[in-house]
Amino acid sequence: GSPSSLPHGDLFLVLVRSMARPVWLLLLLALAARRGAAGGCGPCLPERCPSVRCPAPELAARDECGCCPRCLGAEGERCGGRGAGGPRGPRCGPGLVCVSQARGGGGAAEGTGRCVCKEDGAVCGSDGRSYPSVCALRLLAGPQRVHKAHDGECKLAPVIVVPPKKIHNVTGAQVYLACEVKAVPTPIITWRKVTESPKGVKLLEELPGDRVNMAVQVRGGPSKHESTGWVLINPLMKEDEGVYQCHATNMVGETQAEGNIQVFEQSKSKKSNFLESDDMI
Ligand SMILES: *[C@@H]1O[C@H](CO)[C@@H](O)[C@H](O)[C@H]1NC(C)=O
Repeated sequence: GSPSSLPHGDLFLVLVRSMARPVWLLLLLALAARRGAAGGCGPCLPERCPSVRCPAPELAARDECGCCPRCLGAEGERCGGRGAGGPRGPRCGPGLVCVSQARGGGGAAEGTGRCVCKEDGAVCGSDGRSYPSVCALRLLAGPQRVHKAHDGECKLAPVIVVPPKKIHNVTGAQVYLACEVKAVPTPIITWRKVTESPKGVKLLEELPGDRVNMAVQVRGGPSKHESTGWVLINPLMKEDEGVYQCHATNMVGETQAEGNIQVFEQSKSKKSNFLESDDMI
């Protein structure tokens, strides 16, 4: 019989078989008695069952005696236990397996396993949200019938979380602009200097180009699915003044934001160092 209806079903079988083959009667009854003693399955009295509310309908099951409602283990919950004839630990819900954490021989102690998702890896739900596993989707999605849209995280066109700032400094200083982008998959972040031609046409010049005082850099973070790009300028020169555009692109989309650098000649601030340096910087 299925594990959820174990002792009752087996007892029925025992009675049927014992009528046909009396030879087995003693042996099977003895087995049933042992199991009954260990499992403690008396007559099923549903009104005595504790009330149980499972986090998801898929996790609703019955206890070892096939009587009282009980929840199967959700992802990450304890499970297992393998005592011969002894009480079994909770089983895991559909799509989950009980993995023992005990290393080496000797067998795992009761309830030391963990329910883990059979299918590894993040998935994207039909609700457009990412789930750490297909099991988490089934469980967290709750009653709304969310299904798996595809393997892997949901894609997200780049969004600029923190745009580059407007900064000012003196020539010779070391400055940088930063641009924080959220996107899945990881975006490509580039920097452009925005200039206007004498005819008023907007020109975008990819950085650093051949500038020796400029470098661009990208790193993951600070948060998950975020990348930060920088343009570093050292030493700052008067001609570095202007509008800087941070551009982010991935397979789903692209976006940009602008920052600005204003440059003061150092000689000016040097002359007035004692009088108005605070105003200048
Ligand atoms: C100018 O740059 C220097 C570093 O070279 C920095 O210490 C200073 O804070 C900057 N000033 C402003 C106003 O950002």
